[in-house]
Order: sequence, then C-alpha cells, then structure tokens
Amino acid sequence: MKDLFGKALLDYQNGNYTEDIITSTNISEEDDLPLPYLFRSFKDMPKLEQKALKLAKGSILDVGCGAGSHSLYLQEKGFKVKAIDISKGAIEVAKQRGVLHAEVKSLLDETETFDTILLLMNGTGIFQELVEVSKYLSHLKSLLNANGQILIDSSDIEYMYEDEDGGVWMDMNASYHGELDYFLSYKGEEEDPMKWLYLDFEKLQLACETVGLKCELVAEGEHFDYLARLIN
Ligand SMILES: C[S@@+](CC[C@H](N)C(=O)[O-])C[C@H]1O[C@@H](n2cnc3c(N)ncnc32)[C@H](O)[C@@H]1O
Repeated sequence: MKDLFGKALLDYQNGNYTEDIITSTNISEEDDLPLPYLFRSFKDMPKLEQKALKLAKGSILDVGCGAGSHSLYLQEKGFKVKAIDISKGAIEVAKQRGVLHAEVKSLLDETETFDTILLLMNGTGIFQELVEVSKYLSHLKSLLNANGQILIDSSDIEYMYEDEDGGVWMDMNASYHGELDYFLSYKGEEEDPMKWLYLDFEKLQLACETVGLKCELVAEGEHFDYLARLIN
C-alpha cells in the first residue's frame, strides 16, 4: 500500500490542499472524494453517523478512524477512545488533530476489549469480501466487553446495477453484488487496487447469526444505507 489516502489527509492537515482523492470501482466511473469531508464536524456528518455517535457508550474503539473525526467528537464528549487505522498518514493526522490514543493497527491485530466498537463510512468495507465477513465478525465479537455493542453502517448497492429504465444488468453468475474492486488515485499517483465490501442488512444479519451476534437495524438512511447495532 502506497498510503495515498494518508498522504492526502496529511496534505489537507498541513495546509497543502490542492486537489481531492479520485475513486472509482469496477462498476462505477471516477468520482471525487472531497478531502474536507474526511475532516467533517458532527453537524456535517450523515444522520446515521450522528445516530451512531449518540449511541456510543463506555470505552470506545474507532476502527478505520481515518482523520479521526468521530474519535475527536467522542473524546470531546469525555469518552475514552482508541482509534486505529492501517494508514500511517491517517494516524499521524488523527494525532495532530488531538486524538490522544491513535495507533497504526489492523482490526484483526486488535486485542483489547471495549464497550462500543465503531465502524463508520461503510464500515463493512474493511471486511473486503463476503467470504471474510464471519472471520471479521468473530474477531469483533471477541473485542466486546459484557453488554458491549458494535455500531456499523453500510448500504445495499443493488441500485448501482440499474440502468436508466430501471432494469438490472447484474450478472447472476457473478459474485455478491456488494463486492467491489476499489481504485484510488491522488495527485496523479495510483494506489494498489483494493477490495471493498458493501453489505445489505439481511446479509449482515445472516452473517451475525452464524457467529452468535444479534443484529438490530437502528436506522435507515435516504439511499439504501443503514446503521446496525450488533450485540452478544
Ligand atoms: C472510508 S475510510 C473511513 C474513515 C473514517 N472512519 C471516516 O468516516 O472518515 C476507511 C478507513 O479504514 C481504514 N482501514 C481499511 N482496512 C482496515 C483494517 N483492516 N483495519 C483498520 N483500518 C482499516 C482505511 O485506511 C481508511 O482510513
């Protein structure tokens, strides 16, 4: 990983913001990911993220914290927060912004336990592909204190396969429709391709059942997106 995501966050943080990250997927054209969005304050967050932050309690793990926007909000509210991310640049930025406990670490390497685990901005993306979901969910379950909760958002992206007449062009022999190849570029450089998973609520619920987690639908957004709460 070249950590172009981290490089972009560092540029923004250090006042060198000249362009946005460009993303695309195997089923969609290039799109800008505006850097200021990754530095959003509570009032600029989607309703589902605001809802997740309102539900947070106790000791908190922010998985894939990016620039640390959710961690900062919760820390300012007095919660004890640990923020982890695989991006060195992101963790550097989160620290510079004031996140007190931020570490370069992959979710599967985390071993502490928490009352609340947050995975936001398509939290299921980190699972990468459908076959990996139960491994990640089992691990997340092992990081929960008694009465702990996992708050995770995602979307059903079936709408992305619709053509203008409302027909669906999905290849029924292909893999699950939420499994995407994700491409990112910044300032003319291309990141190594990644896998990024969007999981519809029913699939998440089924996967939770297989690892012994209860999966509740907390709220639905305006565009096939949802926030779920997973408990023991
Ligand atoms: C879409 S960004 C979301 C950033 C932040 N949560 C936000 O809402 O602004 C996803 C983040 O997850 C991080 N990430 C990806 N895989 C990860 C893993 N296995 N463990 C920890 N972080 C991971 C990426 O580096 C990236 O910063």
